[in-house]
Amino acid sequence: MEERRAPRLTSRKVPPVRPLADIAEDAQRGLTRRPRSMPPKYFYDERGSRLFDAICETPEYYPTRTEDALLGAHASDIIAEIRPDHIVEFGSGTARKTRHLFDACDDRGRATAYWPFDVCEAMLLESGQQLVEQYQRLRVNALVGDYLGGLQGLPEFDGCCLFLFLGGTIGNFTETQAGKFLSEVRAVMKAGDYLVLGADRVKPAQVLHAAYNDSEGITAEFNLNLLRVLNRELDADFRLDRFEHRALFNSDASQIEMYLVSSLEQSVRLEALDKTLHFAAGEQILTEISRKFTASRLESMLCLAGFSVTRHLEPENGYFSLLLARPD
Ligand code: SAH
Ligand code: TRP
Repeated sequence: MEERRAPRLTSRKVPPVRPLADIAEDAQRGLTRRPRSMPPKYFYDERGSRLFDAICETPEYYPTRTEDALLGAHASDIIAEIRPDHIVEFGSGTARKTRHLFDACDDRGRATAYWPFDVCEAMLLESGQQLVEQYQRLRVNALVGDYLGGLQGLPEFDGCCLFLFLGGTIGNFTETQAGKFLSEVRAVMKAGDYLVLGADRVKPAQVLHAAYNDSEGITAEFNLNLLRVLNRELDADFRLDRFEHRALFNSDASQIEMYLVSSLEQSVRLEALDKTLHFAAGEQILTEISRKFTASRLESMLCLAGFSVTRHLEPENGYFSLLLARPD
């Protein structure tokens, strides 16, 4: 008879511990006021997640490759130092770079549980399936939810826990949101747990500009995907051929700003909100910021949130930072 074993891939929803706005409320708040904006999490339906994955493959988008190389070079020391029983990743996406850590766990014969936490359930299940097939000792417990809804709904982890927040996603938060998020992560951590934070650094504007304006136009498609999501979810009639992608580096604020710009004067109907929006030609919707940090700014941000930084890894050109930190 075949032995019955616990499945190595499970999935559960993480309920928000505080009220979260839904897309209708976010659109009401963000699109009817000036300057217009939408929270970036709505990019990531299944199509958006695939487009983001394609951005990571473009020659211009250096963050993924740089962070991947850093993780590849240091995964083995990181795992040796931390010896995690659990790896919890916020905004895991395809978890491609995280594989370096699973390889290192494998090399040391460690059975680890991986807890990817993401809003995109399709991506979680697909990558989770691939991971359990590839890593015989890995258990994957997908967490479906919004990490901005608070972290107290996370399971209690028994043993040492390594929390990951990669991809420079911390830069998609404002300074206040970032401080709050890191403090919330800190609050669920026990002595002996670690955080590995990946963050993008300040660098020449033309390098930044190219990374968010790839020549194939995949970033533009990704940005415009937000309008498809709004059309579907709010029964809206945004015409994607009447908006343009714009990404620029605001050096005073040290951030990339991503906009959708109305190419002409137009009206857009949002049936679910019973609202008609009027756009002037050239009027913009802010869809995302991506902050670029100095090395010292990153360390002080972690200190302020109650961490001590044990290692700060960077490539020779200083394009990206990987910081290891533990509760102080
Ligand atoms: N960590 C990956 C993916 C980064 S893209 C990498 O470094 O390449 C950002 C990821 O965060 C996407 O997978 C998106 O679905 C997820 N995400 C964005 N906002 C989120 C939120 N509020 N809660 C949970 N996941 C979120
Ligand atoms: N976290 C990624 C970053 O800030 C997200 C991202 C990359 C992105 N390219 C984008 C978001 C284009 C919107 C549009 O680098």
